[in-house]
Amino acid sequence: MVRLQLVILATIGAVRAAPTTAEPSTPAGLPLPVSTVYSFPKGSFVENLAVRSNGEILVTRTTSAELVLLDPQRPGCAVPVYNFTKAGLSGMTGITEYAPDVFAVLAGDYHFGKSVGVGSWTLFSLDMRGVKLSQAACGLAGGNLPRVRKVALVKESQLLNGLAAHGKYVLASDTFAGLIYRVDMSTGDYSVAINATYLSKLKTPHGVNGIRIVGDTLYAANSGQSILVKVPITENGAEAGPYTVIAHNKGPVDHWDDFAVDSEGGIWAVTASGNTLVRITPDGNTQTVVAGNLNSTAIAEGSSAQFGRGSCDSNVLYVTTVGGLLGPINGTVVIPGALVSVDTEKRGAVGIY
Ligand SMILES: *[C@@H]1O[C@H](CO)[C@@H](O)[C@H](O)[C@H]1NC(C)=O
Ligand SMILES: *[C@@H]1O[C@H](CO)[C@@H](O)[C@H](O)[C@H]1NC(C)=O
Ligand SMILES: *[C@@H]1O[C@H](CO)[C@@H](O)[C@H](O)[C@H]1NC(C)=O
Ligand SMILES: *[C@@H]1O[C@H](CO)[C@@H](O)[C@H](O)[C@H]1NC(C)=O
Repeated sequence: MVRLQLVILATIGAVRAAPTTAEPSTPAGLPLPVSTVYSFPKGSFVENLAVRSNGEILVTRTTSAELVLLDPQRPGCAVPVYNFTKAGLSGMTGITEYAPDVFAVLAGDYHFGKSVGVGSWTLFSLDMRGVKLSQAACGLAGGNLPRVRKVALVKESQLLNGLAAHGKYVLASDTFAGLIYRVDMSTGDYSVAINATYLSKLKTPHGVNGIRIVGDTLYAANSGQSILVKVPITENGAEAGPYTVIAHNKGPVDHWDDFAVDSEGGIWAVTASGNTLVRITPDGNTQTVVAGNLNSTAIAEGSSAQFGRGSCDSNVLYVTTVGGLLGPINGTVVIPGALVSVDTEKRGAVGIY
């Protein structure tokens, strides 16, 4: 998720002044174990991830135009696979697989703390077929690089952020405009797919952030409104029915960001400055903090989450973290942005990537 630093700091200031409330008791088996897969250099705003069918993980940062490939089985090795600086862009946000091992990825002229790249956000196609990490060394096998194609510059966009594949389209959330675009991946034609109050910013700087599609249902996190919603959509990604609000943020500095949907239809969502990972039951009635807490660096400002896809890690949730760059933990602690893994024990993935 990409947010305005000042707003978050202001929110935290207000919260720190408020009286504290009793801590909820922790259910048995929680928190779930968290391990660091890879820590990026300090100051990295690690933003999003996509898990490949071979188990490797592509990671984006808003603070870098380099897309990085990692293998969670090989901690410590991270290999740049493409540098969008070539396209004149400086940061990256969403990434999603739209055809087998072919990914849609967003890059824009983002400068942390200065500008969000209004009018620059560009959707690229990144064909990873034949590209993998070498077993022998920390590099790409055979030196094979992905084939990258510019699909569309969305000139009207303010801050394109989350992506979800939907038939011939990829849907892209515009967090600062508070709406969702559809982009035809073969022609590059794009238009607004959904512009609705539930996605909008209302009086906050941020609207719709993470989006996922399961079947004909679009799930969307609205960071500004602190709600997670779902809505049925048509083949064209337009809304086809009423919205259901699944969950409201509970913590005072919590803001939903990206999330993953598990095999039961439960949602695993990070809460950004809340520094937690929350599981929401499919009916939305119960929210449980499963890892992290406000004062902890375990889930240090989570930005996105995806389940593993291998036989040994399908119950592992991979989470990207910003490290407290936007909202330092306890007001002062900033750690390097990272990819961490959370052992969910049994929930597994629903098969959307
Ligand atoms: C990406 O490209 C830019 C411009 O060509 C360069 O300055 C930067 O160092 C590159 N990044 C890496 C790690 O190669
Ligand atoms: C979205 O809807 C709002 C409110 O109806 C309207 O003001 C705005 O122009 C719309 N934006 C686009 C890009 O369609
Ligand atoms: C934040 O403060 C709390 C309470 O003083 C403390 O328990 C916790 O360890 C601190 N967290 C960090 C990351 O320093
Ligand atoms: C976080 O630390 C503050 C004091 O800095 C304390 O009042 C609060 O209870 C702590 N919260 C958690 C979830 O540990």
